[in-house]
Amino acid sequence: MKVTVVGSGFVGQTTAMRIVEKGLAEVCLIDIIEGKPQGLALDMKEAAPIERYEPKITGTNDYADTAGSDVVVITAGFPRQPGMSRMDLLGKNAAIMTDVVENVAAGSPNSILIVVSNPLDEMTFLAAQKSGFPKERVFGMAGVLDSARLRYFIAEELGVSPLVVEAMTLGSHGDAMIALPRHATVDGKPLPELVDESTLERLFQRTRDGGAEIVAFLKQGSAYYAPSASVVAMVKAIVEDSHEVLPVCAWTSGEYGIKDVYVGVPAKLGRAGIEEIVELDLNDGELTQLREAAEGIRAKCEDLAKL
Ligand SMILES: NC(=O)c1ccc[n+]([C@@H]2O[C@H](COP(=O)([O-])OP(=O)(O)OC[C@H]3O[C@@H](n4cnc5c(N)ncnc54)[C@H](O)[C@@H]3O)[C@@H](O)[C@H]2O)c1
Repeated sequence: MKVTVVGSGFVGQTTAMRIVEKGLAEVCLIDIIEGKPQGLALDMKEAAPIERYEPKITGTNDYADTAGSDVVVITAGFPRQPGMSRMDLLGKNAAIMTDVVENVAAGSPNSILIVVSNPLDEMTFLAAQKSGFPKERVFGMAGVLDSARLRYFIAEELGVSPLVVEAMTLGSHGDAMIALPRHATVDGKPLPELVDESTLERLFQRTRDGGAEIVAFLKQGSAYYAPSASVVAMVKAIVEDSHEVLPVCAWTSGEYGIKDVYVGVPAKLGRAGIEEIVELDLNDGELTQLREAAEGIRAKCEDLAKL
C-alpha cells in the first residue's frame, strides 16, 4: 500500500516516521517547501539500519510522485499559536486544503483522505467537497487524539497505567467535544465509580483544552507526537483492514438522528474507509450534546461557503 502524507511539518513528518518504522506502507512525503520532505526522508532512511526497518519513503515537492496512493493524510496548513482558537485558522487553511485536495485527488482518485489540518471538522467537509470522493473515503482525525488525551489524564489522576484505561470522546474537535463517562473504564471498572462528579468534569475540561495546554507550553506550533500516533492508528486500521472501531470525524446519514454533516462518531475502519458508523447506547443528555455539536459544525461549514 502507498500512503502519501501532505505537509512535512511536525505532524506530517512524525506521521511519516511512525508509518515507516512500523512497516505499514510505502510513504510519500510532500510539502511546498523545497528540500524539506527530501531531507526528512533521507534522514529517516539513514536511521533504518539502526531501527531495523525497510526505508520505504520518498520526499518530494511534485504531486506526480503521489499518484496511485491508497491513503492520503493531509497535515498541510498552519498550526495554532498561543491565544488562537482552531477557528482562527479557517481562512488560511481553507485555501491550502483546496489546493492540496485538487492536486491529490487528480493523481489518486481511488484514495482515502484522512484530514488532520485545523479547524478539523470544517476542513474535512471542505476536503470532501473539493475531492468529490464518496464520503466513506473522506474523514478526519480528532476523536482518537481527544480520547487518548482523556485516557492519559484519567491514568495520571488515578496513578495507573494508561494501558488499562478505556474512554471515548465524540462530537467536535473543540469546545463541543463530548466525553462519555458511562463508557469509560479503568481496569474494567466504570470510571464514575472511581472518581467524583467534579473530578470527572475537571478531567473532561482538561481534555477539551488539551491542545491549548500544549500550545501554551510550546509557545510556537502545536502538539504532534500524540496527533501523529492517532493518525497512524487510523492508517493501520485501513491498511490492515482490521475493522477496528475508532472515533473519527465522519459524514452522518441519520445515525444518532444526525444527517448530512461531519461530526465525531465511532466508526468501523477498513480497506474501503468507513464501513459503518457504530451507534453506541447514548442517554438523552449525551444525544442532545452530540446533536448540538453537529449543528455547530453545520453552521461553521455554511460560513465556510461564504469565504
Ligand atoms: N486534527 C488534530 O487533532 C490536529 C492535531 C495537531 C495538529 N493539527 C493541525 O495539523 C496542521 C499541521 O500542524 P503541524 O504542527 O504539522 O504544522 P507545521 O507548521 O509544522 O507544518 C505544516 C506544513 O504544511 C506545509 N504546507 C503549507 N501549505 C502547503 C501546501 N499548500 N501544500 C503542501 N504543504 C503545505 C508547510 O510548509 C509545513 O511544512 C495544523 O493545521 C494543525 O492545527 C491537527
